[in-house]
Amino acid sequence: MTSTILVTGGTGYIGSHTTVLLLQAGYRVLILDNFCNSDASVLDRIEHICGIRPDVVEGDIRDAALLESLFAHHPITAIMHFAGLKAVGESTQKPLEYYSANVGGSVCLLQAAQNAGVKTFVFSSSATVYGDPVNLPITETHPRSTTNPYGHTKLVIEDILESLYYSEPEWRIARLRYFNPVGAHPSGLIGEAPQGTPNNLMPYVAQVATGLRPQVQVFGNDYNTPDGTGVRDYIHVMDLAQGHLAALRYCQQQAQTLLTVNLGTGKGFSVLEMIKAFEAASGRPIPYGITPRRPGDIAACWADTTLAAQTLGWTAGLDIRQMCEDAWRWEMRRANQEAAG
Ligand code: NAD
Ligand code: WQD
Repeated sequence: MTSTILVTGGTGYIGSHTTVLLLQAGYRVLILDNFCNSDASVLDRIEHICGIRPDVVEGDIRDAALLESLFAHHPITAIMHFAGLKAVGESTQKPLEYYSANVGGSVCLLQAAQNAGVKTFVFSSSATVYGDPVNLPITETHPRSTTNPYGHTKLVIEDILESLYYSEPEWRIARLRYFNPVGAHPSGLIGEAPQGTPNNLMPYVAQVATGLRPQVQVFGNDYNTPDGTGVRDYIHVMDLAQGHLAALRYCQQQAQTLLTVNLGTGKGFSVLEMIKAFEAASGRPIPYGITPRRPGDIAACWADTTLAAQTLGWTAGLDIRQMCEDAWRWEMRRANQEAAG
């Protein structure tokens, strides 16, 4: 029987793009999602892209009985765990929700997986675990720290996975530390669909380009960076999705592993450079104003990608022009659809 990958959070932004690549690579996909930050319409669009519809179960990763039944009824061989809450600001307002969904949810999922003997696990960690970096580019051995509950949930889950691995070394675990995922599937059919005002730069910029918002607020231009604005390692979501496939294949080839790896491009771009790139991709002016720094923001962050290249044979291939062009195609499609009601 074809091996089934359980993809938690598979209707969300990164999970949906990874699901497309898994299906196209011949895996069966079973999505578990509670739709708290997504909706089921993405399944039609995934089917449109791949010609295959993933199986989906609506439910919560904290529902132990549901998980037990999923493992009992599907030939699941590996888990890609995307489900969780991800807004840094909100996590400071609702810490218990974040610890419950992210830490509690991961423990529940891991317990069910262990009970079922499924021990191949790919986890969505984040470059947020590096805190305010002391040196750049950031290698995986950089000390970890965090200043907000969201980041702390990622630290704790990383530690839980490590404890589990040392208790039962037959686990095959990949902890993937994403930098800043942006862009969309080149078809324009799936992409990031933030609810309300976007927290992140690129979805906000895209909404300024469509005219939905008047201007971008640039959070500070007095950082110690070439143009004074924050510098980040933006990675195309399709590259990130490919990185997941590479990590899954790597895990499947090992008898045991605990891999911790950065998924980034190794290049940093400033807020102003990203605004310019989006102007070029969209052909629209993107007005912006400088506002005070956002509390908790760091000046600059980009990945050392050596380990990913060496262990996974994976490097990101898409540049900021492609990130912006694909994000713009998706944003236009969404804007047109909303206008059509
Ligand atoms: P997303 O919100 O688009 O996707 C998460 C999905 O999980 C959503 O479909 C949501 O409905 C679902 N979900 C949330 N809680 C759930 C629960 N308790 N049970 C079942 N389903 C649940 O987010 P994303 O950007 O695709 O992020 C995926 C993962 O990657 C998250 O763990 C996030 O922390 C991590 N990550 C994201 C970024 C980023 O900037 N997008 C960066 C680093 C790490
Ligand atoms: C990028 C740059 C801002 C919005 C966050 C999380 C991180 C990870 C990815 C999950 C910064 C500037 C932003 C705006 C701006 N998520 N900016 N105006 O903060 O690097 O990372 O998302 O793990 O944990 O913290 O991403 O897109 O919010 O900001 O000037 O309206 O854009 O100051 O320099 P960030 P971002």
